[in-house]
Amino acid sequence: MDIIKWRETYETGVQSMDTQHKRLIHLINQMYTILRDKQSLEAVGNVHAEMTEYAERHFHDEEELLRSYEYPGISEQQASHLGYRQKIEAFSDKRNADELATAQDIYAFLRRWWIEHITNEDKRYGPFLKDKGLT
Ligand SMILES: [Fe+2]
Repeated sequence: MDIIKWRETYETGVQSMDTQHKRLIHLINQMYTILRDKQSLEAVGNVHAEMTEYAERHFHDEEELLRSYEYPGISEQQASHLGYRQKIEAFSDKRNADELATAQDIYAFLRRWWIEHITNEDKRYGPFLKDKGLT
C-alpha cells in the first residue's frame, strides 16, 4: 500500500502537470517501500537517481508551460525549483558519511517538499491556466 495516496487536493487541474506530479509521488512511495523493506542501498540509489532525473524534466516542462502562458508567478516557481536542486545537491555531499541515514533524510525531505510545493505553489497556477483555456 502506498504511504502517500493521491488526493484531489493535490490536483492543479492542468492534466499534463497532474500526470507528472503523480509520477513524482509514485517515486516517493517507491523510495519509502525500499527503505521500509531495508532493500539494498543500490535500490535506494536507483530510485533517487530516477527521482532527480524526473524532477528535472518536470521542472523544465512546468517552467516552459508557465512561461508560454506568461504566468506572473514564474520567478517564484523558478526560485522554488532552484531551492530544491540546491537541497538535493547538499544531500549528495553528505552521502558518503552515512548513506542509509542520508537516504532517510532525503525521503523525508522529498515527501514534505513535494506535497507542500504542489498544494501551495503549483495549485496557484491552475486557475490562471484554466482561465486561459488550458485543461
Ligand atoms: Fe513547481
